[in-house]
Amino acid sequence: VLWFAAANMSQPIKLLLICGSLRAGSSHAAVLNTALQLAPAGTLLSLYTGLAELPHFNPDDDRQPLPPSAASLRALLAATDAVLFSTPEYAGSLPGSFKNLLDWTVGEGLYRKPVAFINTAPNGGAQGAHDTLRKVLGYVSADVIEGACAHIPVRRDALGPEGLIHDAEILERLRAVLSAIIEHIRTQPAGERDV
Ligand SMILES: Cc1cc2nc3c(=O)[nH]c(=O)nc-3n(C[C@H](O)[C@H](O)[C@H](O)COP(=O)(O)O)c2cc1C
Repeated sequence: VLWFAAANMSQPIKLLLICGSLRAGSSHAAVLNTALQLAPAGTLLSLYTGLAELPHFNPDDDRQPLPPSAASLRALLAATDAVLFSTPEYAGSLPGSFKNLLDWTVGEGLYRKPVAFINTAPNGGAQGAHDTLRKVLGYVSADVIEGACAHIPVRRDALGPEGLIHDAEILERLRAVLSAIIEHIRTQPAGERDV
């Protein structure tokens, strides 16, 4: 995993970005890759790249030794202060591969972890995916940062050839999401930040 660092890091805040799409030209991956470029001072941002390698979740395998990719996911989650998700909607719900990742976090991984999600669908779409994501995050007792959950519509033509977004308004709104996450981490009660 590559951590994208900004300057002035004494105790950097770590933020893991997780995309729900496996598609090479994914607009959700573009949003998260763009967020990587906006790492505020004092933060380390990283894009999770292991989604395709995760085995189908099977409770029989949720024991030591875990499958290596599942162990790696949980280690990354344990080492991060917060998680930012962005996912498309498939068939009115979450993409199966992304739900599979979330299933691997039921036993361990997102409990009390500060999380937020960005909905990039135009016209208030993908509500089924985000309602389901919210339900799962509630089930695993994640700490949903309401002020950092955003609807940032991204049209296909907003994506540059290198898979990044240059639209000034989208960049501004991504900066606001990152700021809200960091503010939430910084204002957590002492001892809550254990990584
Ligand atoms: C199998 C499949 C099912 C889809 N189902 C829905 C859906 O139920 N609702 C919706 O708004 N879009 C649906 N879409 C469209 C995707 O959510 C949309 O194209 C999204 O922007 C793709 O994200 P990506 O560019 O990050 O891969 C579906 C796409 C696929 C491939």
